[in-house]
Amino acid sequence: MILSGPGSTLITGIAELSTVDPALGTLRDAAVVIEGERIAWVGPASRAPAADTAVDVGGRAVLPGWVDSHTHLVFDGDRAAEFAARMAGQAYEAGGIAVTTGATRAADDARLDGLVAGRVREALAGGTTSLETKTGYGLTVEDEARSARIAAAHVEDVTFLGAHLVPDGLDPDTYVDTVCGPMLDAVAPHVRWADVFCERGAFTVEQSRRVLTACRDAGLGLRVHGNQLGPGGGVALAVEVGAASVDHVNHVTDDDVDALAASDTVATVLPACDLSTRAPLAPARRLLDAGATVAIASNANPGTSWTTSMAFCVATAVLQMGLTVPEAVEAATLGGAKALRRDVGTPDRPAVGRLAVGARADLHVLDAPSAVHLAYRPGMPLTWAVWQRGRRVVA
Ligand code: NIG
Repeated sequence: MILSGPGSTLITGIAELSTVDPALGTLRDAAVVIEGERIAWVGPASRAPAADTAVDVGGRAVLPGWVDSHTHLVFDGDRAAEFAARMAGQAYEAGGIAVTTGATRAADDARLDGLVAGRVREALAGGTTSLETKTGYGLTVEDEARSARIAAAHVEDVTFLGAHLVPDGLDPDTYVDTVCGPMLDAVAPHVRWADVFCERGAFTVEQSRRVLTACRDAGLGLRVHGNQLGPGGGVALAVEVGAASVDHVNHVTDDDVDALAASDTVATVLPACDLSTRAPLAPARRLLDAGATVAIASNANPGTSWTTSMAFCVATAVLQMGLTVPEAVEAATLGGAKALRRDVGTPDRPAVGRLAVGARADLHVLDAPSAVHLAYRPGMPLTWAVWQRGRRVVA
Protein backbone atom coordinates (compact mmCIF):
# COMPACT_ATOMS: atom_id res chain seq x y z
CA MET A 1 0.00 0.00 0.00
CA ILE A 2 1.37 3.44 -0.92
CA LEU A 3 0.87 5.99 1.85
CA SER A 4 2.52 8.90 0.08
CA GLY A 5 3.70 9.50 -3.45
CA PRO A 6 6.94 10.82 -4.93
CA GLY A 7 7.96 14.50 -4.73
CA SER A 8 10.48 15.94 -2.28
CA THR A 9 10.13 14.87 1.36
CA LEU A 10 12.22 16.10 4.28
CA ILE A 11 12.59 13.54 7.05
CA THR A 12 13.59 15.03 10.40
CA GLY A 13 13.67 13.85 14.00
CA ILE A 14 16.33 11.23 13.22
CA ALA A 15 18.17 10.58 16.48
CA GLU A 16 20.70 8.27 14.79
CA LEU A 17 21.20 7.85 11.05
CA SER A 18 23.23 4.75 10.08
CA THR A 19 24.05 5.74 6.52
CA VAL A 20 26.32 2.68 6.05
CA ASP A 21 28.13 4.94 3.60
CA PRO A 22 31.88 4.90 4.28
CA ALA A 23 32.18 8.65 3.71
CA LEU A 24 29.19 9.61 5.89
CA GLY A 25 29.23 7.08 8.73
CA THR A 26 26.67 7.42 11.52
CA LEU A 27 25.10 10.85 12.09
CA ARG A 28 23.16 12.13 15.15
CA ASP A 29 20.27 14.63 14.90
CA ALA A 30 20.20 14.12 11.17
CA ALA A 31 17.83 14.73 8.30
CA VAL A 32 17.29 13.18 4.88
CA VAL A 33 15.62 14.63 1.80
CA ILE A 34 14.01 12.26 -0.70
CA GLU A 35 13.29 13.36 -4.26
CA GLY A 36 11.42 10.91 -6.47
CA GLU A 37 12.90 7.49 -5.82
CA ARG A 38 16.33 8.75 -4.77
CA ILE A 39 18.00 10.40 -1.81
CA ALA A 40 18.68 14.07 -2.60
CA TRP A 41 20.34 15.24 0.61
CA VAL A 42 21.75 13.77 3.86
CA GLY A 43 23.22 15.73 6.77
CA PRO A 44 22.70 17.48 10.10
CA ALA A 45 19.10 18.52 10.76
CA SER A 46 20.27 22.07 11.51
CA ARG A 47 21.35 22.49 7.86
CA ALA A 48 18.50 20.66 6.14
CA PRO A 49 16.98 22.29 3.05
CA ALA A 50 13.25 22.78 2.62
CA ALA A 51 11.09 20.22 0.78
CA ASP A 52 7.51 19.86 -0.45
CA THR A 53 6.50 17.87 2.61
CA ALA A 54 8.11 17.11 5.95
CA VAL A 55 7.89 14.07 8.20
CA ASP A 56 9.19 14.06 11.78
CA VAL A 57 10.10 10.53 12.91
CA GLY A 58 10.22 11.62 16.55
CA GLY A 59 13.74 10.81 17.73
CA ARG A 60 14.04 7.39 16.12
CA ALA A 61 16.91 5.54 14.43
CA VAL A 62 17.01 5.27 10.64
CA LEU A 63 19.03 2.84 8.56
CA PRO A 64 18.92 1.61 4.96
CA GLY A 65 16.26 -0.97 4.16
CA TRP A 66 17.60 -4.50 4.52
CA VAL A 67 19.06 -6.09 1.38
CA ASP A 68 18.24 -9.79 1.71
CA SER A 69 20.51 -11.42 -0.85
CA HIS A 70 19.55 -15.07 -0.33
CA THR A 71 15.97 -16.39 -0.15
CA HIS A 72 13.95 -19.26 -1.63
CA LEU A 73 10.43 -17.81 -1.68
CA VAL A 74 8.87 -19.83 -4.52
CA PHE A 75 7.47 -22.84 -2.69
CA ASP A 76 4.31 -24.42 -1.35
CA GLY A 77 3.88 -26.69 1.65
CA ASP A 78 5.81 -26.86 4.91
CA ARG A 79 8.30 -29.21 6.55
CA ALA A 80 7.39 -28.72 10.20
CA ALA A 81 7.64 -32.48 10.85
CA GLU A 82 11.18 -32.54 9.42
CA PHE A 83 12.05 -29.55 11.63
CA ALA A 84 10.64 -31.27 14.72
CA ALA A 85 12.62 -34.43 13.92
CA ARG A 86 15.74 -32.32 13.58
CA MET A 87 15.13 -30.72 16.95
CA ALA A 88 14.88 -34.29 18.30
CA GLY A 89 18.34 -35.05 16.97
CA GLN A 90 18.05 -35.96 13.29
CA ALA A 91 20.62 -34.34 10.98
CA TYR A 92 19.61 -32.03 8.11
CA GLU A 93 19.83 -33.75 4.71
CA ALA A 94 19.53 -32.10 1.29
CA GLY A 95 16.91 -34.72 0.38
CA GLY A 96 14.15 -32.71 2.10
CA ILE A 97 14.22 -30.43 -0.95
CA ALA A 98 12.30 -33.18 -2.80
CA VAL A 99 9.34 -32.84 -0.39
CA THR A 100 9.00 -29.13 -1.13
CA THR A 101 9.49 -29.78 -4.84
CA GLY A 102 6.47 -32.12 -4.83
CA ALA A 103 4.26 -29.57 -3.04
CA THR A 104 5.44 -26.74 -5.30
CA ARG A 105 4.79 -28.64 -8.52
CA ALA A 106 1.26 -29.40 -7.26
CA ALA A 107 0.38 -25.73 -6.67
CA ASP A 108 -1.33 -23.86 -9.50
CA ASP A 109 0.10 -20.59 -10.81
CA ALA A 110 -2.30 -18.34 -8.94
CA ARG A 111 -1.59 -20.03 -5.62
CA LEU A 112 2.18 -19.90 -6.09
CA ASP A 113 2.02 -16.27 -7.17
CA GLY A 114 -0.03 -15.40 -4.07
CA LEU A 115 2.39 -17.20 -1.78
CA VAL A 116 5.39 -15.35 -3.20
CA ALA A 117 3.57 -12.00 -3.04
CA GLY A 118 2.67 -12.62 0.60
CA ARG A 119 6.27 -13.46 1.52
CA VAL A 120 7.61 -10.35 -0.21
CA ARG A 121 5.01 -8.26 1.69
CA GLU A 122 5.98 -9.90 4.96
CA ALA A 123 9.66 -9.13 4.35
CA LEU A 124 8.87 -5.52 3.46
CA ALA A 125 6.86 -5.12 6.68
CA GLY A 126 10.08 -6.04 8.53
CA GLY A 127 12.19 -3.50 6.65
CA THR A 128 13.47 -5.56 3.70
CA THR A 129 13.40 -3.28 0.65
CA SER A 130 15.57 -5.36 -1.73
CA LEU A 131 15.27 -9.10 -2.18
CA GLU A 132 16.89 -11.86 -4.14
CA THR A 133 14.94 -15.09 -4.58
CA LYS A 134 15.56 -18.39 -6.31
CA THR A 135 13.93 -21.14 -8.29
CA GLY A 136 14.96 -24.62 -7.18
CA TYR A 137 11.73 -26.31 -6.10
CA GLY A 138 10.60 -27.07 -9.66
CA LEU A 139 13.45 -29.17 -11.05
CA THR A 140 11.83 -29.80 -14.45
CA VAL A 141 12.16 -27.47 -17.42
CA GLU A 142 8.51 -26.39 -17.12
CA ASP A 143 8.45 -26.05 -13.34
CA GLU A 144 11.73 -24.13 -13.14
CA ALA A 145 10.57 -21.74 -15.90
CA ARG A 146 7.27 -21.22 -14.08
CA SER A 147 9.04 -20.52 -10.77
CA ALA A 148 11.37 -18.04 -12.48
CA ARG A 149 8.47 -16.25 -14.19
CA ILE A 150 6.46 -15.98 -10.96
CA ALA A 151 9.49 -14.82 -8.98
CA ALA A 152 10.31 -12.15 -11.57
CA ALA A 153 6.83 -10.66 -11.17
CA HIS A 154 7.71 -9.75 -7.56
CA VAL A 155 11.49 -9.56 -7.20
CA GLU A 156 14.22 -7.81 -9.23
CA ASP A 157 17.03 -10.26 -8.53
CA VAL A 158 15.90 -13.74 -9.50
CA THR A 159 18.31 -16.68 -9.42
CA PHE A 160 18.12 -19.93 -11.40
CA LEU A 161 18.75 -22.84 -9.03
CA GLY A 162 17.86 -25.80 -11.22
CA ALA A 163 20.97 -27.41 -9.71
CA HIS A 164 19.43 -27.61 -6.24
CA LEU A 165 18.95 -31.38 -6.11
CA VAL A 166 19.00 -34.23 -8.63
CA PRO A 167 15.35 -35.34 -8.88
CA ASP A 168 14.69 -38.92 -7.75
CA GLY A 169 15.43 -41.55 -10.35
CA LEU A 170 17.48 -39.32 -12.68
CA ASP A 171 21.12 -39.84 -13.54
CA PRO A 172 23.03 -36.83 -12.09
CA ASP A 173 25.09 -36.09 -15.20
CA THR A 174 22.07 -36.39 -17.48
CA TYR A 175 20.20 -34.00 -15.18
CA VAL A 176 23.13 -31.55 -15.34
CA ASP A 177 22.88 -31.72 -19.16
CA THR A 178 19.22 -30.68 -18.84
CA VAL A 179 20.08 -27.86 -16.42
CA CYS A 180 22.77 -26.53 -18.78
CA GLY A 181 20.60 -26.90 -21.88
CA PRO A 182 16.81 -26.66 -22.14
CA MET A 183 16.23 -25.62 -18.54
CA LEU A 184 18.68 -22.73 -18.77
CA ASP A 185 17.15 -21.65 -22.10
CA ALA A 186 13.67 -21.65 -20.56
CA VAL A 187 14.52 -19.66 -17.41
CA ALA A 188 17.05 -17.22 -18.91
CA PRO A 189 14.50 -14.53 -19.90
CA HIS A 190 13.36 -14.21 -16.26
CA VAL A 191 16.58 -14.40 -14.24
CA ARG A 192 19.70 -12.37 -13.57
CA TRP A 193 21.66 -14.97 -11.58
CA ALA A 194 22.51 -18.68 -11.48
CA ASP A 195 23.32 -20.70 -8.39
CA VAL A 196 24.29 -24.29 -7.63
CA PHE A 197 24.13 -26.37 -4.44
CA CYS A 198 27.72 -27.63 -4.42
CA GLU A 199 27.57 -30.12 -1.58
CA ARG A 200 27.59 -33.81 -0.78
CA GLY A 201 24.13 -35.17 -1.56
CA ALA A 202 23.60 -32.45 -4.17
CA PHE A 203 26.18 -31.56 -6.89
CA THR A 204 29.90 -32.31 -7.10
CA VAL A 205 32.45 -29.59 -7.79
CA GLU A 206 32.80 -30.80 -11.37
CA GLN A 207 29.03 -30.84 -11.98
CA SER A 208 28.74 -27.43 -10.31
CA ARG A 209 31.50 -26.01 -12.52
CA ARG A 210 29.65 -27.23 -15.62
CA VAL A 211 26.43 -25.55 -14.52
CA LEU A 212 28.12 -22.29 -13.57
CA THR A 213 30.13 -22.13 -16.79
CA ALA A 214 27.05 -22.70 -18.96
CA CYS A 215 25.11 -20.07 -17.03
CA ARG A 216 27.96 -17.57 -17.27
CA ASP A 217 28.11 -18.19 -21.02
CA ALA A 218 24.38 -17.39 -21.12
CA GLY A 219 25.10 -14.01 -19.52
CA LEU A 220 24.02 -14.74 -15.95
CA GLY A 221 25.86 -13.64 -12.82
CA LEU A 222 26.95 -16.47 -10.55
CA ARG A 223 26.36 -17.49 -6.94
CA VAL A 224 27.17 -20.71 -5.07
CA HIS A 225 25.69 -22.57 -2.08
CA GLY A 226 28.94 -23.83 -0.59
CA ASN A 227 30.50 -25.48 2.46
CA GLN A 228 27.15 -25.76 4.29
CA LEU A 229 27.10 -29.39 5.39
CA GLY A 230 30.81 -30.08 5.47
CA PRO A 231 34.16 -28.99 4.10
CA GLY A 232 34.37 -29.11 0.32
CA GLY A 233 35.24 -27.24 -2.83
CA GLY A 234 32.32 -24.78 -2.97
CA VAL A 235 34.20 -21.71 -1.78
CA ALA A 236 37.22 -22.39 -4.00
CA LEU A 237 34.94 -22.94 -6.99
CA ALA A 238 33.02 -19.72 -6.30
CA VAL A 239 36.25 -17.74 -6.21
CA GLU A 240 37.58 -19.55 -9.31
CA VAL A 241 34.52 -18.66 -11.42
CA GLY A 242 34.25 -15.12 -10.04
CA ALA A 243 30.90 -15.68 -8.33
CA ALA A 244 29.35 -12.62 -6.72
CA SER A 245 28.77 -14.60 -3.53
CA VAL A 246 29.23 -17.94 -1.86
CA ASP A 247 26.54 -18.59 0.70
CA HIS A 248 26.42 -20.65 3.94
CA VAL A 249 30.25 -21.07 4.43
CA ASN A 250 29.83 -22.99 7.69
CA HIS A 251 32.81 -25.29 7.12
CA VAL A 252 35.72 -23.27 5.76
CA THR A 253 39.46 -23.82 5.87
CA ASP A 254 42.09 -21.12 6.34
CA ASP A 255 42.74 -21.37 2.58
CA ASP A 256 39.03 -20.73 1.90
CA VAL A 257 39.07 -17.66 4.14
CA ASP A 258 42.25 -16.34 2.52
CA ALA A 259 40.82 -16.93 -0.96
CA LEU A 260 37.64 -15.02 -0.07
CA ALA A 261 39.61 -12.17 1.47
CA ALA A 262 41.66 -11.84 -1.72
CA SER A 263 38.60 -11.92 -4.00
CA ASP A 264 35.45 -9.95 -4.88
CA THR A 265 33.28 -12.90 -3.86
CA VAL A 266 31.09 -11.96 -0.91
CA ALA A 267 30.79 -14.51 1.92
CA THR A 268 27.09 -14.64 2.81
CA VAL A 269 26.26 -15.97 6.24
CA LEU A 270 22.77 -17.22 7.09
CA PRO A 271 22.37 -17.06 10.87
CA ALA A 272 18.74 -18.23 11.03
CA CYS A 273 19.58 -21.28 8.93
CA ASP A 274 22.52 -22.14 11.18
CA LEU A 275 20.23 -22.08 14.22
CA SER A 276 17.45 -24.02 12.51
CA THR A 277 19.81 -26.77 11.33
CA ARG A 278 21.94 -26.69 14.49
CA ALA A 279 24.96 -26.26 12.26
CA PRO A 280 28.25 -24.79 13.42
CA LEU A 281 27.74 -21.05 13.02
CA ALA A 282 29.37 -19.57 9.94
CA PRO A 283 32.60 -17.84 11.02
CA ALA A 284 31.51 -14.29 10.26
CA ARG A 285 33.98 -12.77 12.76
CA ARG A 286 36.91 -14.69 11.28
CA LEU A 287 35.90 -13.76 7.75
CA LEU A 288 35.64 -10.05 8.58
CA ASP A 289 38.93 -10.07 10.47
CA ALA A 290 40.62 -11.66 7.45
CA GLY A 291 39.32 -8.88 5.20
CA ALA A 292 36.50 -10.72 3.40
CA THR A 293 33.25 -8.91 2.58
CA VAL A 294 30.42 -10.45 4.59
CA ALA A 295 26.70 -10.31 3.88
CA ILE A 296 23.90 -11.46 6.19
CA ALA A 297 20.79 -12.94 4.56
CA SER A 298 17.66 -14.72 5.78
CA ASN A 299 17.75 -17.81 3.50
CA ALA A 300 13.95 -17.87 3.89
CA ASN A 301 12.85 -21.37 2.84
CA PRO A 302 10.65 -24.11 4.32
CA GLY A 303 13.48 -26.57 5.00
CA THR A 304 16.27 -24.83 6.84
CA SER A 305 15.19 -21.29 7.68
CA TRP A 306 11.56 -20.28 7.55
CA THR A 307 11.89 -16.63 8.42
CA THR A 308 12.08 -13.43 6.41
CA SER A 309 13.19 -11.48 9.48
CA MET A 310 16.50 -9.78 8.77
CA ALA A 311 16.27 -8.16 12.22
CA PHE A 312 16.39 -11.65 13.73
CA CYS A 313 19.41 -12.50 11.57
CA VAL A 314 21.18 -9.29 12.57
CA ALA A 315 20.50 -9.94 16.27
CA THR A 316 21.83 -13.50 15.92
CA ALA A 317 24.95 -12.33 14.11
CA VAL A 318 25.65 -9.97 16.99
CA LEU A 319 24.68 -12.25 19.86
CA GLN A 320 26.09 -15.52 18.49
CA MET A 321 28.61 -14.74 15.75
CA GLY A 322 30.56 -11.99 17.49
CA LEU A 323 29.77 -9.07 15.18
CA THR A 324 29.24 -5.56 16.51
CA VAL A 325 25.88 -3.97 15.74
CA PRO A 326 27.35 -1.62 13.07
CA GLU A 327 29.12 -4.59 11.42
CA ALA A 328 25.93 -6.64 11.36
CA VAL A 329 23.84 -3.73 10.04
CA GLU A 330 26.41 -3.14 7.30
CA ALA A 331 26.45 -6.86 6.37
CA ALA A 332 22.63 -6.89 6.12
CA THR A 333 22.47 -3.75 3.97
CA LEU A 334 25.61 -2.82 2.02
CA GLY A 335 26.96 -6.37 2.29
CA GLY A 336 23.80 -7.74 0.67
CA ALA A 337 23.97 -5.02 -1.97
CA LYS A 338 27.56 -6.05 -2.78
CA ALA A 339 26.49 -9.69 -2.99
CA LEU A 340 23.91 -8.62 -5.58
CA ARG A 341 26.26 -6.14 -7.26
CA ARG A 342 23.80 -3.36 -6.46
CA ASP A 343 26.08 -1.29 -4.23
CA VAL A 344 27.11 0.97 -7.12
CA GLY A 345 24.36 2.78 -8.97
CA THR A 346 23.93 3.53 -12.65
CA PRO A 347 21.97 6.41 -14.23
CA ASP A 348 18.85 4.24 -14.50
CA ARG A 349 19.34 2.00 -11.46
CA PRO A 350 20.22 3.66 -8.15
CA ALA A 351 22.46 1.91 -5.64
CA VAL A 352 20.88 0.21 -2.65
CA GLY A 353 22.20 -0.70 0.79
CA ARG A 354 23.39 2.76 1.85
CA LEU A 355 21.88 6.18 2.51
CA ALA A 356 23.79 8.69 0.40
CA VAL A 357 22.92 11.24 -2.28
CA GLY A 358 21.80 9.44 -5.44
CA ALA A 359 21.12 6.12 -3.74
CA ARG A 360 17.64 4.61 -3.81
CA ALA A 361 15.48 6.08 -1.07
CA ASP A 362 14.96 2.85 0.89
CA LEU A 363 14.74 3.80 4.56
CA HIS A 364 14.00 1.67 7.59
CA VAL A 365 12.86 3.60 10.68
CA LEU A 366 13.15 1.73 13.97
CA ASP A 367 10.88 2.28 16.93
CA ALA A 368 14.04 2.88 18.95
CA PRO A 369 16.59 5.67 19.28
CA SER A 370 19.53 3.60 17.99
CA ALA A 371 20.32 0.52 15.92
CA VAL A 372 21.82 -1.12 19.01
CA HIS A 373 18.24 -1.98 20.01
CA LEU A 374 18.14 -4.55 17.18
CA ALA A 375 20.38 -6.85 19.24
CA TYR A 376 19.63 -5.43 22.68
CA ARG A 377 15.91 -6.25 22.27
CA PRO A 378 16.05 -9.35 20.05
CA GLY A 379 12.79 -10.62 18.67
CA MET A 380 10.92 -7.36 19.29
CA PRO A 381 8.96 -5.80 16.41
CA LEU A 382 11.14 -2.72 15.97
CA THR A 383 10.12 -1.64 12.44
CA TRP A 384 8.26 1.68 12.78
CA ALA A 385 8.15 2.84 9.14
CA VAL A 386 9.63 1.90 5.76
CA TRP A 387 10.24 3.98 2.64
CA GLN A 388 10.93 2.03 -0.57
CA ARG A 389 11.89 3.81 -3.79
CA GLY A 390 10.96 7.11 -2.13
CA ARG A 391 7.48 6.01 -1.12
CA ARG A 392 6.33 5.33 2.39
CA VAL A 393 5.09 1.77 2.17
CA VAL A 394 4.91 0.79 5.84
CA ALA A 395 3.43 3.23 8.37
O1 NIG B 1 19.88 -22.74 1.42
N1 NIG B 1 21.07 -25.55 0.98
C1 NIG B 1 20.30 -25.66 0.08
N2 NIG B 1 19.12 -25.01 -0.05
C2 NIG B 1 18.38 -24.45 1.05
C3 NIG B 1 17.59 -25.47 1.78
C4 NIG B 1 16.61 -26.08 0.94
C5 NIG B 1 15.67 -27.00 1.64
O2 NIG B 1 16.07 -27.79 2.50
O3 NIG B 1 14.52 -26.94 1.23
C6 NIG B 1 19.31 -23.68 1.94
O4 NIG B 1 19.46 -23.99 3.13
